[in-house]
Amino acid sequence: MLSNELNECLTRVGPDTPMGKVLRRHWHPIAGVDELERSPTKPIRLLGEDLVLYRDKSGDYGLLDRHCAHRRADLSQGIVEQHGIRCFYHGWQYDATGQCTQQPFEEQVDPAGSLCARTRLKAYSVKPAGGMLWAYLGPFPAPELPDWEAFHWANGFVQVVFSEVPCNWLQAQENSIDPVHFEWTHANWSRRQRDDGAEYVPTHTKLNFEEFEHGFLYKRVCEDTSEEDPLWTIGRVCLWPHGFFLGDHFEWRVPIDDENMLSVTWSFIRVPRESEPYDQQHIPSWYSPIQDSQGNWITTHVINQDIVAWVGQGRITDRTRETLGASDRGIALLRRRLLDDIDAVEAGRDPKGVLRDPPPEGGLYLPSDHREFFLLGLPREAYLRHPKWGRLLTQFIFHAGQPEAVRAACEVATGVPMKRDGLIDL
Ligand code: FES
Ligand SMILES: [Fe+2]
Repeated sequence: MLSNELNECLTRVGPDTPMGKVLRRHWHPIAGVDELERSPTKPIRLLGEDLVLYRDKSGDYGLLDRHCAHRRADLSQGIVEQHGIRCFYHGWQYDATGQCTQQPFEEQVDPAGSLCARTRLKAYSVKPAGGMLWAYLGPFPAPELPDWEAFHWANGFVQVVFSEVPCNWLQAQENSIDPVHFEWTHANWSRRQRDDGAEYVPTHTKLNFEEFEHGFLYKRVCEDTSEEDPLWTIGRVCLWPHGFFLGDHFEWRVPIDDENMLSVTWSFIRVPRESEPYDQQHIPSWYSPIQDSQGNWITTHVINQDIVAWVGQGRITDRTRETLGASDRGIALLRRRLLDDIDAVEAGRDPKGVLRDPPPEGGLYLPSDHREFFLLGLPREAYLRHPKWGRLLTQFIFHAGQPEAVRAACEVATGVPMKRDGLIDL
């Protein structure tokens, strides 16, 4: 349980809020690289700020105030030029620093362009990594963009999936340090949805949470696993400050504003040995629905199931009305560390997880159970027989609504046909 004051402090993300300042010290994934290839501008709402993301004709990215400095037209409808973006209303043009570089009519009456020189929009940094575009909204010098080792893994099919979710980012991130929900939200709830009389899965018997440089590790023992299992010896990563790394995929919970977040999933499907070498030329990104055509929540896929849990907690969970137990020790650790981050930023220090040293060649290491599988792969038959990895090869379990073209590209990469949408087989 938290006081209302602390709940407000941890959840509000605007520029002048304590957590907004912490989150502005980190990079945020906001779009797929391929999205800007399909359409060169995209409206973005991030940390309560309305922005436009664009890719100009030189291939450079910019992230500017959404509204033109002239009379506030929407720059997401703008025209990309060789360098920068031009407002479609009266033609004012801006570069990636936000500096106005052209004001066509004003230059007729004042060739010196004094108004143009004085006109500048808010501008932020954008960089590509892992098939995504990342934004940094904080003070300079900007920290290093986390370049994770998994972004460099070979012989895999990567896709990036977005969902807009109508709730605050923190209740989603608390899910990254909540091992018990796997048993219920995913395994048991899927079984009950199938209504096939299956028993509930073996329950959790022991949990542990450990802090490390890039977040927390959570570890678990269940009735059918032991302390020799990688789920206990290695565990999974609650990635700081708003990510989750599960070996085969990352998830990020990016705050759109106080009451909305962007769920971002980066998924790696290792190809079977017979399909090696596989060199992916194009990482597709797509948006996954969270409700069906009748407005019902989609509950068939892993992250859709999570989303139903998060939105059910309210737009901003009322943490004054919780009843925390032993399973929530990680959640208490996470909240305490975020409050420490607020103090660090107030004191002029970096919060946890900010990288100042350039990542090593080949990316930053993160612990993961069964990492060798993602590095080495398996022959097709052994892969298909494997109780866990075989499932990843034959169905996209994370999000509903995978586009046919993405599924087809994955099948070409792996050489294995995939099941179509429907309740996942967990
Ligand atoms: S509103 Fe953008 S140029 Fe006039
Ligand atoms: Fe989950």
